[in-house]
Amino acid sequence: MSPLEPAEVPAALRGRRIAILVGGGVAAYKVADLVSRLVQAECQVRVAMTASAARFVGPPTFQGVSGRPVELDLWSGGGHPEPHVELGDWAQLILVAPATANLLARVAHGHADDLVTATVLAARCRVVVAPAMNDAMWAKPSVRANVASLLADGVLVVQPEAGHLASGHVGAGRLAGSAAILETMAQALQARHDLAGRRAVVSAGGTREPIDPVRFLSNYSSGKMGFAVAAAAAERGAEVALVTTTHHPSHPGVRQVPVETAAEMLAALRAELPGADLLVMAAAVADFRPAEQATEKIRREDRTELVLRLEKNLDLLAEVAREPGAEGVFRLGFAAESTELESKAAEKIQRKGLDAILANDVSRRDIAFGSEHNAGLLLFRDGTRVEIERMTKREMADRILDAVAPRLT
Ligand code: CTP
Repeated sequence: MSPLEPAEVPAALRGRRIAILVGGGVAAYKVADLVSRLVQAECQVRVAMTASAARFVGPPTFQGVSGRPVELDLWSGGGHPEPHVELGDWAQLILVAPATANLLARVAHGHADDLVTATVLAARCRVVVAPAMNDAMWAKPSVRANVASLLADGVLVVQPEAGHLASGHVGAGRLAGSAAILETMAQALQARHDLAGRRAVVSAGGTREPIDPVRFLSNYSSGKMGFAVAAAAAERGAEVALVTTTHHPSHPGVRQVPVETAAEMLAALRAELPGADLLVMAAAVADFRPAEQATEKIRREDRTELVLRLEKNLDLLAEVAREPGAEGVFRLGFAAESTELESKAAEKIQRKGLDAILANDVSRRDIAFGSEHNAGLLLFRDGTRVEIERMTKREMADRILDAVAPRLT
């Protein structure tokens, strides 16, 4: 979709009662457009603003787009003695946007010294926070800690985008686009928080097995499925370590542990597994690696052919199954198969000591490597089968977690 096309309001949001709490940042003007779209989608929208937000965009603008008076403080709330409680009770969903570093900190720490923060605290519904700030502020450990604490409380945080910032800098911190905010709001209405207090370890991407300092053996895995599972688990409240060979921005609740080779991945898994509840092994681990690794670049001038001798990598899943720290960890593997999907998946459950496996048919072209979509069969050790039709990898991640979460010990 081009940035100029209006983002579509997801069906899940239509007709809902939504409180939009506007913070004091330059991006506040973008929120007016979001309110207008929601109203056009027949949502009932009430807007409250912090005092500084009202200095960036005049309340009449929000009144105009929402068709209702804007709520500005704790003392003039339409005659209600506790306007924050009334607004928090009324809302089926709350969006805080733009969440400045200051507003984020106040919400994360449970402050209630103005209508916006008090409403978040009094809310009985899901809260989505869309931060926007300077890139240096967004990168600060104190801000990350506030984001982590919001996530732990079940708040959904829409990752800011990278790009030109009002400060003139270029970096991550720009208010996410309308489409991303609307999608997260829709997810918030559907999402569960059933992994709160759980620790998940997820692996993603194809391992890279070095031949010499500039070459490696690898595969077509994009890492998207593992990133999707990590994001879904974090949104459902889990603390997530993502052991990965590919690097994309991920959900703020996901801690990325970068690795390259199968051996490094195994070491990282061993370090992360003690105390974990769930291991999702979405990585495409190379089965073979060059037996020798040249310390210097292999030159074409020196030879007419190059024969690589490969040796077998360990089966990481089978290895970690033997770790004392992996006892009680629910182990989910992935299997890419081109024939006899179900019988091969069942065999891998046994051979690798798994609790479940997600088998996909790699002969299908509509869910090929690198695609945003996937489909497959989720098979449990006890024989339970969950067929997952073609959907986005992010949707599939939730479908998998829906089936796995109740089985965690
Ligand atoms: N896996 C692993 N270690 C390996 C190879 C694979 O832990 N050395 C994991 C993958 O991350 C995946 C599962 O095992 O979760 C199944 O991977 P797959 O490549 O299908 O299994 P293989 O054992 O390689 O079986 P085959 O090549 O015979 O199909």
